[in-house]
Amino acid sequence: MAQIINGKETSKKIREQIRLETEKMQKETGIRPGLAVILVGDDPASAIYVRNKKKACDEVGFLSKEFVLPATAKEEDLLALIDQLNADPEIHGILVQLPVPKHMDAKKVIARIDPKKDVDAFSFENVGRIVTGDFDFVPCTPAGIMELLAEYRISPEGKRAVVIGRSNIVGKPMALLLLHQNATVTVCHSRTENLAEICREADILVAAVGKAKFVTEDMVKEGAVVIDVGMNRDENGLCGDVDFAAVEKKASYITPVPGGVGPMTITLLMKNTLTSAQKAGKGE
Ligand code: GUN
Repeated sequence: MAQIINGKETSKKIREQIRLETEKMQKETGIRPGLAVILVGDDPASAIYVRNKKKACDEVGFLSKEFVLPATAKEEDLLALIDQLNADPEIHGILVQLPVPKHMDAKKVIARIDPKKDVDAFSFENVGRIVTGDFDFVPCTPAGIMELLAEYRISPEGKRAVVIGRSNIVGKPMALLLLHQNATVTVCHSRTENLAEICREADILVAAVGKAKFVTEDMVKEGAVVIDVGMNRDENGLCGDVDFAAVEKKASYITPVPGGVGPMTITLLMKNTLTSAQKAGKGE
């Protein structure tokens, strides 16, 4: 039976550290980290994420500013708002909740955010830094997973890691972070042949597919560490990409959904915002 990796507890612990560092920085330098979150449209899932981000800011003592634009807003209105926030000294992090409406070019929108305030680490500059290993901002979801591995003393060094999914937000940066910690990494995707066979070789298996219960017990090696990034809805409510009940019996460690990877993503966003404020304080 696998040990459950508790993202809620780990997240709480890290947020407390962030809160203390924030308090100390504010006392010593007068700088309070500030995060601006922009939501375009009224997608209910996105609205929940935005609300959770504001809650997290309150918890760690950050200033938070929230901007909601209608789904019909023009791209140039969004770009003008980003320009205004780029110039705002109270704001150290800018996040545009994705996806943006179809009439907007997400690449152009992300490129407009000052890379120094790009706390999602989605800009070309920050992605390039992640590839080379020279980065200040960590990609939030993959970095949250690395924190979970560290917390549970699971070292990727020399291990065979398999990432299912190649998105820019999760799969690709996940593979890079595991590689930076000396894992041997394979990235699988919808066109991969012999997927189950490859997954069975994984010491660390990360599922970021977006399909409920995609990873079944026969795809998992005995004793593997299984990380579930999925957030799907099925007939029983929220469920991950992993068939938890069956895989739990075979894995050594497993993240649940909810309460695994999810809470860590926002925590790492807070960490990036703190890093940005600290750098701004040093004039960097
Ligand atoms: N939409 C889904 N995940 C994310 C994320 O990590 N950042 C942003 N900005 N939008 C998202």
